[in-house]
Amino acid sequence: MVLGLVVAVVLATKVAAAPSLEPGWIPVQRAASAVQVGRTDPSDTVLPSGIIDQSSVAGLVPQRLESATARAAARWTYLPGESAFNDRLDDLVVKAIAAHGAAQGLPVYQPAPSPSGAGLGDRGCLAGSSLRPAAKILADPALAPQGTGGAVVALVCDVVHASGHYFGERVRVVSGTPEAVIGDTTTVLYTDTSTGEIVDGADIVLAGAVDEVWGPVVGALRLAAGALWDVEILPPSDSARGAVETALLRAWVGADGSVKLPFDVPLEGREFDSLAGFDALFPALVTLPAEQGRRLFSPFGQTLLDTAAAGQPYAGPPDLPAAADRTNCGLVPCVAVTFDDGPGPNTPAVLDALAQADSSATFFVLGPAAERSPETLKRAYAEGHTIGTHTWSHAELTGLTDEKIVEEVERTQRAVAAITGQTPAYFRPPYGALSERVTGKLAELGLPAVLWDVDSADWQGPPAAVLVDNAVSPANQGSIILLHDIKAHTVEQVPAVLEGLRDRGFSLVTLDHLLGGTAPRPGSTVKSAR
Ligand code: NI
Repeated sequence: MVLGLVVAVVLATKVAAAPSLEPGWIPVQRAASAVQVGRTDPSDTVLPSGIIDQSSVAGLVPQRLESATARAAARWTYLPGESAFNDRLDDLVVKAIAAHGAAQGLPVYQPAPSPSGAGLGDRGCLAGSSLRPAAKILADPALAPQGTGGAVVALVCDVVHASGHYFGERVRVVSGTPEAVIGDTTTVLYTDTSTGEIVDGADIVLAGAVDEVWGPVVGALRLAAGALWDVEILPPSDSARGAVETALLRAWVGADGSVKLPFDVPLEGREFDSLAGFDALFPALVTLPAEQGRRLFSPFGQTLLDTAAAGQPYAGPPDLPAAADRTNCGLVPCVAVTFDDGPGPNTPAVLDALAQADSSATFFVLGPAAERSPETLKRAYAEGHTIGTHTWSHAELTGLTDEKIVEEVERTQRAVAAITGQTPAYFRPPYGALSERVTGKLAELGLPAVLWDVDSADWQGPPAAVLVDNAVSPANQGSIILLHDIKAHTVEQVPAVLEGLRDRGFSLVTLDHLLGGTAPRPGSTVKSAR
């Protein structure tokens, strides 16, 4: 109360000290500032300046997880391919969830699917979300888990930079409830994709940056607030210095080389006293032109900024086949969708649907079918899907002699290798029929037997909705799902199956990836990755 009075008195003094407007006085024409002041307004349907829609950057691999038990949600996006940058993003996600769980006494996070209808197929950065007020992030079902009955943690992202070989992603971690925010930290990660170097935005800001930026920011804010006169700009108070430091840590270099400084709340300073339009500027986004921003940064930051200012188009890692992309099945729930008995005339439609859904699969092919459709098999292999074999004649192996079993398997292995150049590492017995004798032979042949834990029963020709539900509802973390790409009826429903699985939060990966990149022991039987 006492402080409030003092502030009020000081404000009154400042107002009195402002120049009075005399009749006939014409304000001087004020030069436009090179420093622009906009808003990071969360209610805007327009993208805040300097935020890039992830869909405009080729090849990004959007991710999302949500866990009611860990009271956590995260949205982020990888660069194509395995990279140290993706590791850093994983690290931010893992640490955010672990810290929240420890603070709230929650069970250790385990990736698990959500019920159907969860809406988790929409992934990656929701453009502009990292600039929203923390309470709004926590209240948004697209960003944070709702109805958990306690404090939650939400990690949101924005793509903020893509020029030349440089890419930048802004990650914000907010925890608490919409009524009481507990934590709120922002990390801006940049990478030079040509060298793999990764820099935290905070590390490229030079020590003297606050003093460098203070004058231009004050001048631009005053102008934007409608100031008609110039004042002497004093050094920042401790609180104003802190606010500018925070803005610099949260700042980013836009795709045009400008530097974006977000200020959530009004800056304090005598320079702003009596400016009626001042408070209404916030949350403000102050944009410094490249030549001014340059003085704030280390050499890495300067090169990044120069590349962007020169208008260099993004030349980061190219779009890769889905399976080559990174999915961390220790972080998000994964399943392997498998297709048997092909390839056939319908297989290209399956490959199209997989590409459309950023998903990978595994094909257990028959020898003659492979020889009839070598181009389709080559395409499946080239697009990163796993190719396994399923015998030559689709015979039930338990009824064959040892010699015949070996011939059925080896002949098909050779046929596939002749087409793709790679000998398959996985085998699925027709009808799932196995005996000790058969697995013994498979052990000699160096192959594991891959079965399934989710049977779509598509071969029975169930109604479309039943087929989709058969494949989607029982799926769990690590499931292997059985479908047939020779059935037109199945192939028609593949997009709905992929969408249904993604809606539950699953990433659809190859068998290889699901099993951690190492094929199971020859002769062993695998039904899921659990
Ligand atoms: Ni079969």
